[in-house]
Amino acid sequence: MKNFSGELIWITGASSGIGAALAVQLASLGAKVIISARNAEKLQALADGFNGAGRILPLPLDVTDPVAVAAAVNTLQTDHGRIDRVILNAGTYIPDSVVGFTAKSVKTQLDLNVLGCALMLEQLLPLMRGQGGGAIAIVASVAGYRGLPYAAGYGASKAALINMAESLQPECKQLGIKLQLICPGFVKTPLTDRNDFAMPFIISAEDAARRIAQGLSSDRFEIVFPKRMKIAMKILRLLPNGLFLRLSQGVLRK
Ligand SMILES: NC(=O)c1ccc[n+]([C@@H]2O[C@H](COP(=O)([O-])OP(=O)(O)OC[C@H]3O[C@@H](n4cnc5c(N)ncnc54)[C@H](OP(=O)(O)O)[C@@H]3O)[C@@H](O)[C@H]2O)c1
Repeated sequence: MKNFSGELIWITGASSGIGAALAVQLASLGAKVIISARNAEKLQALADGFNGAGRILPLPLDVTDPVAVAAAVNTLQTDHGRIDRVILNAGTYIPDSVVGFTAKSVKTQLDLNVLGCALMLEQLLPLMRGQGGGAIAIVASVAGYRGLPYAAGYGASKAALINMAESLQPECKQLGIKLQLICPGFVKTPLTDRNDFAMPFIISAEDAARRIAQGLSSDRFEIVFPKRMKIAMKILRLLPNGLFLRLSQGVLRK
């Protein structure tokens, strides 16, 4: 595993789940990790409880607030100079259904998952150009590969992130910015704890964090895991609509 010592890494959505586990993983590998989310107490507890090679420092932030995002970027630049790597991980999931479908649910998920990411990119892309490079990883999901039942808003938001990352990557590369896309399968976190269905190939947040850290050290654009979920979802993506939709019908609640 790559040693991340000397790197300043910023992770959003790091008060729980994948973001918190990734902060611990990367700090254990020597990085100075800035953790952001809205819950300042949880961030402080994570920072205080860490005892390893690197450091974890809290920076409370709501990524849907453009003024706060700009101020946070400014603070980090002033306090630390260079920001080497950012993991855009903040996100939410609300199950959607045809019964009781609301635009509000879709908007909540798009506002945080897509626009929250875009607000961060608006600040980070010029910053990284100015400092002569850097790395950004966007956390999407395998749920963005195809429209899955009960995930209309969530899937749409993650499909948008995948498309956005693919669109930005070539120009980023030209400008010396390494842009990566992270597509996890099911990971046990507060986000999936609310699911009442069996989640195939589910892994722990710590396992996800190890796989992400490995992926970040590679030159791969897309970091997808676990492998069995990756294969299943990549096959689903290739299926013709008729067959795919018949399979989807089979997973509907009775
Ligand atoms: N778990 C999975 O199976 C899975 C699979 C694929 C992709 N993902 C993606 O992985 C990412 C992390 O999810 P998770 O499973 O680790 O869920 P989680 O434990 O619920 O973490 C979500 C994080 O986002 C933060 N957050 C929520 N709203 C925010 C806002 N407005 N501004 C800043 N931070 C905010 C939360 O903290 P606060 O509430 O304190 O703000 C929390 O730290 C998400 O993008 C999710 O879509 C998860």
